[in-house]
Amino acid sequence: MHIDLSERTALITGASGGIGRQTALALTRSGAHCVLMARQLDRLGEVAKEAPDDSMTLCPVDLLDEAQLNNALSSLDRHIDIIVHCAAPTFAYNKLHALSQEDTHQQFQVGIHSMTQICAKLLPEMMVKRWGRVVLVSSLSAQLSGRGAAHYNMVKAAQESLARSIALEYGRYRICANTLRLGPIDGPRLAQREQTYPGSRQKMLDKSPSKTLPTPEEVANVIAFFCSTYIAPVNGATLDVTASTHLNPMW
Ligand SMILES: NC(=O)c1ccc[n+]([C@@H]2O[C@H](COP(=O)([O-])OP(=O)(O)OC[C@H]3O[C@@H](n4cnc5c(N)ncnc54)[C@H](OP(=O)(O)O)[C@@H]3O)[C@@H](O)[C@H]2O)c1
Repeated sequence: MHIDLSERTALITGASGGIGRQTALALTRSGAHCVLMARQLDRLGEVAKEAPDDSMTLCPVDLLDEAQLNNALSSLDRHIDIIVHCAAPTFAYNKLHALSQEDTHQQFQVGIHSMTQICAKLLPEMMVKRWGRVVLVSSLSAQLSGRGAAHYNMVKAAQESLARSIALEYGRYRICANTLRLGPIDGPRLAQREQTYPGSRQKMLDKSPSKTLPTPEEVANVIAFFCSTYIAPVNGATLDVTASTHLNPMW
């Protein structure tokens, strides 16, 4: 099976992060032009250095800033065929009553409002072209509600709902919207956690029924498939991309 995304342009939020970065590289390998969105321009530049010349456009944006996002979307000089939403702020775990209001605001703004803003701007153009793909990167938290992360859990559940609404309302324009529900990923976030809590990676591997965790590269390949023509019969779906950890929840 060959995934051909030449002639397609993908907007990837969180493109400087573990999964967004690998997604951008995977989509570029399939021929897409990628617009990389995140705050840290230097990190976006590092991603672009790994890809062929002129295959990526850097779009530094703080998704907490609605005006900045609106300007960036209005300044795009390419039609966007594909949206992949990977951006997610980090936060301090705590019980609901003790969660920081600031963290809660950031989760909702980056996880839901910015995506709604992006869709409102770009879906009409996809309708005209009668083709589009939207992939939201969610988490097992949407279903299992991880402790100390009520805001994150709510946002991930809302993202799955958003994909279903897009599928329902835009499916007739050959626009597919789906959600990938991830468990722990063997990437930079876990490496960071390992520094604070040594041994946590091994604990997760031990609890995983398959004794493996997906890597960002593996997740990116699944995302590329969800951006392809092959996904046409799958719309409004949520897929567990967990290497089986959803069968043995870790929290
Ligand atoms: N890694 C896992 O184990 C795991 C598990 C389940 C679900 N997920 C989901 O998978 C997705 C990708 O995760 P990841 O592991 O790649 O995370 P990551 O490495 O921490 O990357 C997060 C990305 O979000 C961007 N971001 C954060 N706040 C932003 C803001 N205000 N404006 C614009 N961009 C912002 C960051 O870029 P800047 O800092 O440059 O802005 C970064 O590119 C997330 O939705 C996450 O919830 C991950």
